[in-house]
Amino acid sequence: MATGQPIKMYLTIFVATTCIYMVLYQYHVSRQPMPQVEFLKAPPPPPPPLYIITPTYKRAEQLAELTRLGYTLKHVPNLLWIVVDDANHTSPLVIETLNRIGVPYEYFLAPMPEIYKHTKKAKPRGVSNRNRGLDYIRANATDGVLYFADDDNTYDISIFDQMRYTKKVSMWPVGLVTKFGISTPIIRNGKIVGFYDGWIGGRKFPVDMAGFAVSVKFLHERPKAKMPYKPGYEEDGFLKSLQPLPLTEIELLASNCTEILTWHTQTKKNANATALNTNVHGGTNLVQLDKYLVRA
Ligand code: UGA
Ligand code: MN
Repeated sequence: MATGQPIKMYLTIFVATTCIYMVLYQYHVSRQPMPQVEFLKAPPPPPPPLYIITPTYKRAEQLAELTRLGYTLKHVPNLLWIVVDDANHTSPLVIETLNRIGVPYEYFLAPMPEIYKHTKKAKPRGVSNRNRGLDYIRANATDGVLYFADDDNTYDISIFDQMRYTKKVSMWPVGLVTKFGISTPIIRNGKIVGFYDGWIGGRKFPVDMAGFAVSVKFLHERPKAKMPYKPGYEEDGFLKSLQPLPLTEIELLASNCTEILTWHTQTKKNANATALNTNVHGGTNLVQLDKYLVRA
C-alpha cells in the first residue's frame, strides 16, 4: 500500500464530516425564528401639529406663569408654542425662560394699541397678541390645530391630544369661570342645545378662551377671521368671524363635555416689589436677583 493512501482517506473523512456539520448547522439556523427587526417597521406617522398661541405681558407673575405653562406643554409632542408678548421690546428674561424650558417656540411682540391701554373701562386683554399668532399661522402652517392658551390657566395634557384631531372647531368645558363655576356647551342627546355660563351677554358663542380649538385648514378657509378688540366678546367675536359655523358641526371633546380638563385659574395678583437698597445690599446676590423683579 502506498503511503499517500491513509492520508487521502483521512482527508476524505474530514471533508465529509465538515460538510455534514455545515449542512446540519444551516438546517438548524433555518429553523430559528427570524429576529424581530424593529427598524424595518415604518414608524407611526407624527400626530397633527398643534399651534398654541399664548398671550403674555410683563408683571410680577409673568415668568412664573410661563414656567408653569411651559412645563405642561413639554409633555405634548409635535407642538409649537407661539408666545406673544404685549410689549414694545423683547424681554431677555422671557427668552431665557423659554430656552430653559425647551419647548419649540416662536416669540413675537404685539403691544396692545395705545387707544385701549389708557382706557378706564375693561381692556381687550391679549387680543393683539392672539391676532399676531393667527398671522403667523396663516403664513407658516398648512395643517394641524390652533388653540389660545392664556398664560395663567391650568391645562390637563390629555386635552391637547384630543384637540389635535379637530376638523373645524371643537369645544369642551372650562372650570372656574364665573359664579357658575364652569363654562360649557349644554349637551342633550349628544347635541349642543345651549351654553352654560354665568354671563351670556347676548353672545352667540358664550364660551371661554380655554374652551375651544380650531383647525388650521378651517382657519385658512376663513381668511378674514380675527379677534375683535371688544372686552368680554373676544371669543364670541372670533368664533363669529369663522361663520358659517353651525352648532351641529362643532366637535365635542372631554367625553362629550362631561369632564373638566381646563381651568380659568387666575393667579393672585402680586404687588410689585419695593426698591432694593443698594447702599445696604450692594455687592450681594440681591443685585443679580434684581433683574427678575418687577419693581414698584
Ligand atoms: C379672559 C380672556 O382670556 C380674555 O381674552 C378676556 O379679555 C377676559 O377673559 C374678559 O372677558 O374680560 P382673563 O383671565 O380675565 O381673560 O384675563 P387675563 O388672564 O388677565 O388675560 C388674558 C391673556 O392676555 C393672558 O394670557 C395675559 O397674559 C394676556 N394679557 C393680559 C396681555 O397680553 N396684556 C394685558 O394687558 C393683559
Ligand atoms: Mn386669565
